[in-house]
Amino acid sequence: MDVIPLGPGFAAEIRGAGMAEVATDDAAYAAVRAAFEEHSVLVFRNQPITDELQVAFSRRFGPLETAKAASRGEGTPFSVLTNIEPDGTLVPPDHKEALRARANQLWHTDSCFKIPPALASVLSARVVAATGGETEFVSMRQAWNSLDDSLRARLDNAFAWHDYAHSRGKIASHLASERERSTMPPVSWRLRWRNPVNGRDALYIASHTCGIEGMAADDALKLIDELAAQATRPERIFQHRWRAGDVVMWDNRATMHRGRPWPDDQPRNMMRTTISATDADGLAAMWPQRTAA
Ligand code: OGA
Ligand code: MN
Repeated sequence: MDVIPLGPGFAAEIRGAGMAEVATDDAAYAAVRAAFEEHSVLVFRNQPITDELQVAFSRRFGPLETAKAASRGEGTPFSVLTNIEPDGTLVPPDHKEALRARANQLWHTDSCFKIPPALASVLSARVVAATGGETEFVSMRQAWNSLDDSLRARLDNAFAWHDYAHSRGKIASHLASERERSTMPPVSWRLRWRNPVNGRDALYIASHTCGIEGMAADDALKLIDELAAQATRPERIFQHRWRAGDVVMWDNRATMHRGRPWPDDQPRNMMRTTISATDADGLAAMWPQRTAA
């Protein structure tokens, strides 16, 4: 297996091992898992993508989420990100799925608004837009390491609130439905996620982050915006340009990502499986008011 670095200090392409090998071979899984812990974003090209294989690959890394209430894949392991209707037509720009795509274009990490939050996401390209529709990533380890010492010390034992309705509200006031609000109330996690394998710390914020415990709401939102702006400076971005057959996996503990827009008249269909974090992934220390392990 070869690991070819791609991005500014993180992200790598994996060659010589793919979904099928990881799904069936313990040594391949161990090698890819080690690369995941180290590089945070892994790119696999030319994969023989099927739903079954994506689930078998993803399950190696831990328990799978079921897609959230009122989303296209509700009740299945797949979050479906598509602008294609079941009858093959494309959704209009004011359609809920188009607005959801716009919300995914805000810098975020997946499922920080859930209990448990996500370890990793696995996104497979089923139909790729001819232009645009890239996905961009930044390292939140780099974000943490570049904080000045006094701010890092302040945030080290701080907890932030995450709310799905907060990020959706940035796009349209009622994009999060009543059902989504009631099934996903705001949750709080430590602002620093420590990787138990290598001890590296990452800043844990996203578009969903709506407050910091013990801080006035306005001050907290201002600080979160400043932290996100620093984390996502252009020179820190790794951009993935999709080809059909690509699979990209990322560490939601240690990165943020965003989708990029594409023309409304082009179809795009991406299927995501999401792996929940467990205590083995450093979750135990993330709970509010518990001290770090
Ligand atoms: C996701 C996501 C962005 C994209 O799958 O979690 O944010 O480019 N995707 O589709
Ligand atoms: Mn996402």
